[in-house]
Amino acid sequence: MELVSITDEDNNKYFYKRYDGYAFNTLVLGNVRDQLSKISKMKCRSEDVLIGVFPKSGTHWLYNTVMMLRTGTLKYYGTPTLLQFQEISTVDEMQTPRTFGSHLRFRFLPDEMKLGTGKVITITRNLKDLVVSVYHMLRNMEDIGYQGTFDGFLKRFVTEECFLGNGSWFSWIKDMEEWNSPNLLCLSYEDFKNNTYENVVKLAKFLELDHNEDFLRKVEQNISFDKLKEQHNIVNTASDRWEEITEDGRLPIYRKGQIGEWKNTFIVAQSEWFDKICKYKIEEMSIKTKVN
Ligand code: A3P
Repeated sequence: MELVSITDEDNNKYFYKRYDGYAFNTLVLGNVRDQLSKISKMKCRSEDVLIGVFPKSGTHWLYNTVMMLRTGTLKYYGTPTLLQFQEISTVDEMQTPRTFGSHLRFRFLPDEMKLGTGKVITITRNLKDLVVSVYHMLRNMEDIGYQGTFDGFLKRFVTEECFLGNGSWFSWIKDMEEWNSPNLLCLSYEDFKNNTYENVVKLAKFLELDHNEDFLRKVEQNISFDKLKEQHNIVNTASDRWEEITEDGRLPIYRKGQIGEWKNTFIVAQSEWFDKICKYKIEEMSIKTKVN
């Protein structure tokens, strides 16, 4: 593993851990290799649910919906235990039924899950909204991979040096599309926002949970952006894990929660440049997932 640190001609700073040709967040534990090895060999259970999401696509929204459905409560559960950042012994010790998360490319997920043990749920988001969301989050945290302008960030984001997806979003999505097991459910952020109740029902069905309409409607109301943001600030979900990199131990997750928010950050030239790259990558890699 090597620590890569790049300063470009505009003095933007970009840093990540590189292992085996892949880029990782500097927060991934240790030398990366050992953590990946523990994750791939991890013992999985048939009741396990993994929330496997590219960062800033709606991990917390999905996780808290799944937790409400699985526990039959309307409680806010905060940030999931993320495989790449936690000692795997902590995950081993979690009680069944376990719900945990990961931002890793699907090739790094547990071998037993690849073979069909447990369930995997993901959510994808308009890529321009996602980049803007990531950029603002990194700006609000200390020394997590990037310090600089949006323009400089955009240029790194589309490359295989993007540590958020252990490569570009396109490679992350390609891995997800190649997941070869019926234990995967894929939602879309925009559809979740526009048709929340239908997606809550879809999730309950996938999780094989038999809730009545009254409860599912309550879940719908309790996972709105405003409710989750409010709970994130009230409920004590602060974790030692995030203390070093945030002001109060809480990750700055909820910013605007809007579709089309990218228009307030991208300038026309950036948008046109980004569209061209997306078109090229999507055709080159035969990606089916919608980018916008
Ligand atoms: P913004 O930064 O655009 O506000 P993740 O949990 O993967 O880090 O994703 C965070 C993004 O999902 C944030 O986007 C956050 O506001 C958005 N989000 C979370 N809950 C949401 C909800 N109920 N409705 C819409 N967006 C939501």
